[in-house]
Amino acid sequence: MPTYGRLPVSFVKGEGAWLLDQQGKRYLDALSGIAVCGLGHSHPAVTEAICDQASTLLHTSNLYGIPNQQQLADRLCEISGMENVFFSNSGAEANEAAIKLARLHGHNMGIEAPAIIVTKGSFHGRTLATLSATGNRKIQAGFEPLVSGFIRAPYNDLEALREIAVNSKQAVAIMVEPVQGEGGVKIPDAGYLAGVRAICDQQGWLMMLDEVQTGMGRTGKWFGFQHEAITPDVMTLAKGLGNGLPIGACLARGKAATLFQPGMHGSTFGGNPLVTRVALAVIDTIKQGALLDRAAALGNQIQQGLETKLADNSQVLDIRSRGLMVGIELSQPCAALVSQALGRGILLNVTANNVVRLLPPLILSDDEAKQIIEQVGGLINQFTTDNSEESRS
Ligand SMILES: Cc1ncc(COP(=O)(O)O)c(C=O)c1O
Repeated sequence: MPTYGRLPVSFVKGEGAWLLDQQGKRYLDALSGIAVCGLGHSHPAVTEAICDQASTLLHTSNLYGIPNQQQLADRLCEISGMENVFFSNSGAEANEAAIKLARLHGHNMGIEAPAIIVTKGSFHGRTLATLSATGNRKIQAGFEPLVSGFIRAPYNDLEALREIAVNSKQAVAIMVEPVQGEGGVKIPDAGYLAGVRAICDQQGWLMMLDEVQTGMGRTGKWFGFQHEAITPDVMTLAKGLGNGLPIGACLARGKAATLFQPGMHGSTFGGNPLVTRVALAVIDTIKQGALLDRAAALGNQIQQGLETKLADNSQVLDIRSRGLMVGIELSQPCAALVSQALGRGILLNVTANNVVRLLPPLILSDDEAKQIIEQVGGLINQFTTDNSEESRS
């Protein structure tokens, strides 16, 4: 179906931070399949895990015990402070599980029509419930009636949450991204997540973090919430967890950890022996390679390099990063930059109309980081010169 506006390129091979197209042209991948391939392409640990598991056992069923799944759940809980995990196949499905948990929690509170607070500019997926939760009309248009039970609040605004706490009898949870990814790499003020935590504690709401994009080392810590001294009640993961294999997870702790009882939720493929084996290899590789610190350092290096390179460009409104989630906000729409970058052999993306987004792999070398700075900085300077007031008139 014509679901995607695809770029005119097809890749046939990947190695580290590089992709090769059908003509053998090389591209520096500063997008990682939208925050998926944190370990880059064809990482030997991932390849080895896939090959070994594929020749042992691919799939049984959640009717039976799955040792790899149990091990992965244990590892994820160890690094996150959560207690139980449900495995899905994507980020949207992980969020569906979270939404169902919130409704169960609400019913336990005696609320018949429980509502989840979601934020403007958020992105939570394309299923009916998750697109309804998403704070972007473009994602929802044409698919009404939306799933009910969401209350919308501005992002990074604790006062708005306090007002809802006073006025709403329906609210039972909040679902929020630690950094809004699709919304334009929006980083909330320091203390925002801790503030959300405090309000949730006061109100008995579940604090549910969508870490689908921010999780698995992307921000320089395992999870985005670890930049503040808090733990959520529910957290969702996908993307970087499988480095390209489809796996999602909904983690919970405290009262949220045991809301699902047998028969209340499920997935045929969720957490099968192959994907969970690969996710275990991803966690081991991030740990052994000290890639969390590396992601933090690379993010700073790219931010500083771009600040220098774009210092005299008045059309650059902001450069922001948290680890290897980098956003460069321009004063004008810049979607055209994506194909211009492609022409120069670099993969990047534009979100929220005017934010150039970089999500390079955590295994990037210093030299590759420099190439990103040079190339992306040069491209943006060229783009803004070509599209300045004078050159347009
Ligand atoms: C924060 C966030 N949540 C959920 C999703 C949806 O994940 P998926 O495409 O795996 O369903 C995305 C995808 O971009 C995302 O960035």
